[in-house]
Amino acid sequence: MLGMFPRLSIGIFPTPLGRLEALEAALRSEGLQPPTILIKRDDLSGLALGGNKVRKLEFLLADAQLQGCDTLITCGAAQSNHALQTAAAGGKFGFHTICVLDGPEPVGPPAGNLLLHSILNTEIVWCTLQEGESRKEQARRRIMLETAERLKTAGKRPYSIPTGGSTWVGSLGYVEAVRELLHQLDDTVVDAVYFASGSGGTQAGIVVGARACNWNAILNGVDVDYIPADSAGIRPFWRAIDRLTRETAEKSGEDVTVPADAVVLNSEYAGPAYGAPTAESEAAIRILARTEGIFLDPVYTAKAFAALLGDLRSNKYGPAATVLFWHTGGSAGLFAPH
Ligand SMILES: Cc1ncc(COP(=O)(O)O)c(C=O)c1O
Repeated sequence: MLGMFPRLSIGIFPTPLGRLEALEAALRSEGLQPPTILIKRDDLSGLALGGNKVRKLEFLLADAQLQGCDTLITCGAAQSNHALQTAAAGGKFGFHTICVLDGPEPVGPPAGNLLLHSILNTEIVWCTLQEGESRKEQARRRIMLETAERLKTAGKRPYSIPTGGSTWVGSLGYVEAVRELLHQLDDTVVDAVYFASGSGGTQAGIVVGARACNWNAILNGVDVDYIPADSAGIRPFWRAIDRLTRETAEKSGEDVTVPADAVVLNSEYAGPAYGAPTAESEAAIRILARTEGIFLDPVYTAKAFAALLGDLRSNKYGPAATVLFWHTGGSAGLFAPH
């Protein structure tokens, strides 16, 4: 069904599927009996330094082209991997890219993704809260709108991409990714999947893709920015992912229903704040690097991998089980101050 949507070829797919045998051995030496641990390497997706946003951008930039747009506007944290990948993909396909990033602008030489932006020559608009605004999302939205208006007045055709590229169009990339993975897995049964959830589009796509393929693995989204439940006892981020999942299911043309419990969100490893490391996330970075030579990023994948390690160490899965970690990239964040 996804064939009816325009799509650019930006990344290198399929991304590799591997097994973490050295990590399994390290866990055995701790006295555990770990399951088979697989890894899907979307950190090697082939644009800039890789990562999950490439899959979304293949659909988003095709949509921008279809609408005759010439300028991309997107937003995020100062070290947003999504903003960086949008700027890199934009350049490749002839778009001017403007990134609205949470300010104030850091002092000193640019590091991490900001260093990569300086190489790409991305136009950055720094965004700070105005009187009456209490959340960074409000400031981002205001500046995105102002920027779009300014461009239109100058005769440009802007295409606005919200935080993380998490629209139903972007999520199509992960609906498709599940098909790619299942093809690679062949007959291998996977009991559970772990991945980081930041703006929810990856999770929405994975959930819809899994439903479309009748894939029954437990899909554990790991929250990296814990916001407490509302008065109805529901976490706002869970609600946002659930909504996006339903919209993706409907608009994708896939013949799926989304049950009430389809979106699983583990918030136990988010730590005190977005981007703030935890003892578990730092240990996760070290063990995967030292056993397998694979680097996680500090903001997203380290927390998701910490959640997987936590479940492995509490013997949630027996040795006959198979679990899969979906590495979504972000390694530039290792070179950023935090
Ligand atoms: C490295 C990395 N992993 C995971 C995510 C989460 O993806 P999503 O925003 O689609 O939830 C992001 C972006 O937010 C990311 O940069």
